[in-house]
Amino acid sequence: MKKIVMSIVALTATTALMAAVNAGACAGCHGADWTKVDMGNKNVSAMSKADIAAALKGYKAGTYGAAKKALMVGQVSKYSNEELDAFAQTIGK
Ligand code: HEC
Repeated sequence: MKKIVMSIVALTATTALMAAVNAGACAGCHGADWTKVDMGNKNVSAMSKADIAAALKGYKAGTYGAAKKALMVGQVSKYSNEELDAFAQTIGK
């Protein structure tokens, strides 16, 4: 029993580590302050939190995006909608 509990604890810890959206992975394309637009994307820092949340979940669902959306699908598909919603609250207006 103790072994099972320990495995569950370890699993939960791993999941929590992977859960937080890694903003560092976005900075190369979007800039650390989200203003970079070199790749044909919008200035994310000027978007509302709600629009960012909709965009991130939309890329994942295949319902949002323009010519370069494939680049974003790979960025967001590993996260849950809840994680994307929570992350969107930390950026934008
Ligand atoms: C390889 C470069 C790249 C990386 C890394 C990247 N993005 Fe993007 N992002 C883009 C491009 C290009 C677009 C516009 C895609 C399109 O055509 O719809 C975009 C679009 C977006 C949009 C919507 C803005 C718009 O133009 O409609 C948001 C929000 C966004 N990215 C957030 C993120 C977040 C959050 C991460 C990190 C988890 C991230 N991006 C990582 C290149 C990148």
